[in-house]
Amino acid sequence: MIPDEKQPSYFRNWISVAGTIFSIISFVAICSLFLLDLFWEGANPYLGIITYMVAPAALILSLLLIPIGAGIERSQRRKRGYVPKFPIIDFNNPVHQRWTYTTWAVLTIFLLFSAYGVYRAYNFTESNTFCGTLCHTVMEPEYTAYHESSHARVNCVQCHIGEGAEWFVRSKLSGAYQVYSTIRNIYHRPIETPIRNLRPAQDTCERCHWPQKFFGAVEQDHDYFLPDEANTEWKTRMLMSVGGGASVGDNKRGIHWHVNPENKIYYVATDPKRQVIPWIRKVGKDGKEEVFVEKGSGYTAAKPPKGEMRRMDCMDCHNRPSHSYRDPSSTVNRAMASGAIDKTLPSIKHEAVKVLTGKYETKEDAAQKIRESVSAFYKEKYPEVWAKQKGAVEQAAEAIFGIYKVNFFPKMNVAWKEYPNNIGHLIFPGCFRCHDGSHESAAGKTISNDCAQCHAIISQGAPGDLETKVEGLDFKHPDPGVGETWKEMKCYECHTGDVE
Ligand code: HEC
Ligand code: HEC
Ligand code: HEC
Ligand code: HEC
Ligand code: HEC
Ligand code: HEC
Repeated sequence: MIPDEKQPSYFRNWISVAGTIFSIISFVAICSLFLLDLFWEGANPYLGIITYMVAPAALILSLLLIPIGAGIERSQRRKRGYVPKFPIIDFNNPVHQRWTYTTWAVLTIFLLFSAYGVYRAYNFTESNTFCGTLCHTVMEPEYTAYHESSHARVNCVQCHIGEGAEWFVRSKLSGAYQVYSTIRNIYHRPIETPIRNLRPAQDTCERCHWPQKFFGAVEQDHDYFLPDEANTEWKTRMLMSVGGGASVGDNKRGIHWHVNPENKIYYVATDPKRQVIPWIRKVGKDGKEEVFVEKGSGYTAAKPPKGEMRRMDCMDCHNRPSHSYRDPSSTVNRAMASGAIDKTLPSIKHEAVKVLTGKYETKEDAAQKIRESVSAFYKEKYPEVWAKQKGAVEQAAEAIFGIYKVNFFPKMNVAWKEYPNNIGHLIFPGCFRCHDGSHESAAGKTISNDCAQCHAIISQGAPGDLETKVEGLDFKHPDPGVGETWKEMKCYECHTGDVE
């Protein structure tokens, strides 16, 4: 048996040696990657991941290998009959002293570096690049639509997490599961909404938008084109009553009444997308309660449906503030109004909406097939138009693909129908989930469906023949064939954003 002092160090084994070599390599790698990240403008998200996540993880693992190797060595020597003793540290011994100081110094530097690394890693996981581009396919729809929205300069985390430690931890926990489900390829396509446990709007949206500051009305201009050969044009100009966020002066009434801090609206939806709302409770400033129940639903004020009782906030109407996948009909209307699609091309409204709703495997596939089918349509049906306006047809096809590119995401099965937008009532129930005239209180009062309560139509008609009235006009349906049917049926029962 070799005496204790003569025993070679436990660290002399191949695992610990490999650990040491790997540690040095990762340390050097971290330092150089870090410098690269600091000074190179064009750094991409993958560099961030390697610098602040992969390389530090590799360093920690390699450092761990060193004691693990020593431990294994020790237990093997033990099996060979050697009885190990713990080393005696003697601070009077200059060698031991030197070793202690060096160890302290190395540990301190390491801790400082890791603190900085953790800080950078944290910042990196909060960045738009991390949220939006890392899982490229998964987040492509959200990231693309986000850049098309008015919030393109608001960070993802400002709406999805907000401030404070509690939500930070929650978001990292659910984020970890999301990374896992992406790696295992078990996520939903499309991603399911409404997002469970989204942070209440009071802590996110209301950091920038105060309900108290909503007053007056905002104007909306709509240009419509019917899907007929002439692309018959129709204009509607309306004033949206966006006030009501505070109960002062003229501001008592309006759409933002629901988020006025004095009012509380609770509701229970009976479907996962929150599109069917048979039960609503309104609590006023004085604490007075009123419950509205959908007629014929069988529920009563005292017996709400089972399910989550939600307090209404911004997201119950603005559920697509940043990821709005628009429907074919309204996007084509807009492109035609702006001139991106030439409105003199016969039947272009119908044709454009039709090709947008076609089935395509990928974006590239869509690009090719959209161009082909638009050209083919004019070549075959309108050869004289093709002869004279070939350029306009090709430009229209490009514009249609432009719409497709930012609103349709075949890999994730994302399109407008998957994510009902709760603002409005034309193609989704939206406001009419409650304001359909059939939600009644015990006293017999209904939640109003009077068109003028939410907006005033100040002008409408064909471009050369506009009726205008500042106090508001009675709605006239653009398609004469529909007549007055819109009074009996809800708009979204006929309108889908598509053409039949
Ligand atoms: C202005 C606030 C806002 C910003 C900024 C924002 N989001 Fe969202 N996001 C929302 C809301 C609201 C929803 C929908 C919630 C619901 O329906 O439950 C949502 C939904 C989502 C969804 C679920 C799928 C979907 O399409 O609805 C994902 C994924 C998502 N956001 C990712 C991101 C990413 C990545 C960014 C940054 C690039 C981002 N968000 C920026 C507010 C925002
Ligand atoms: C960090 C600040 C910030 C946060 C957080 C934020 N917004 Fe905004 N929002 C803005 C700014 C700035 C604009 C104006 C952009 C412009 O006019 O181009 C805006 C515009 C809007 C608009 C009008 C334009 C439109 O797209 O219709 C709506 C509605 C809106 N925000 C709703 C929301 C909702 C809902 C949330 C929470 C999910 C939210 N915002 C969170 C800053 C913010
Ligand atoms: C969850 C149910 C619900 C939804 C969804 C809803 N509302 Fe309301 N709304 C109510 C209730 C309840 C009242 C109060 C009715 C009453 O007391 O007569 C109300 C009242 C109003 C008022 C009158 C406020 C006032 O000043 O008196 C307006 C305007 C309004 N809503 C607009 C809208 C618009 C626009 C939408 C869609 C973007 C919408 N609402 C969606 C439940 C809802
Ligand atoms: C009852 C549904 C509803 C609720 C709840 C709601 N909004 Fe709105 N909001 C609307 C409608 C409808 C409009 C006008 C139409 C539009 O912009 O599409 C609007 C317009 C806006 C605008 C643009 C107004 C302008 O002056 O240009 C902003 C910003 C906004 N809302 C933010 C919010 C925020 C923040 C909250 C939560 C505190 C909120 N909204 C709650 C329905 C709602
Ligand atoms: C509870 C409030 C409310 C009621 C009641 C209401 N609307 Fe609206 N309406 C809205 C909102 C909000 C929008 C805006 C949608 C948007 O910003 O895209 C809208 C949009 C519209 C549009 C433009 C549609 C588009 O997207 O191009 C028309 C037309 C319209 N309403 C007509 C009517 C008529 C007709 C009635 C009565 C039968 C009516 N509305 C009742 C809230 C209401
Ligand atoms: C009975 C079915 C039906 C009902 C109900 C109905 N519409 Fe329509 N609407 C049509 C048809 C059909 C057209 C012409 C073809 C098309 O655009 O799909 C049309 C066209 C329109 C257009 C112009 C085309 C475009 O680009 O969207 C608008 C705007 C419109 N309707 C608004 C409304 C509104 C607002 C309501 C509810 C108040 C409503 N419609 C209810 C059937 C209906």
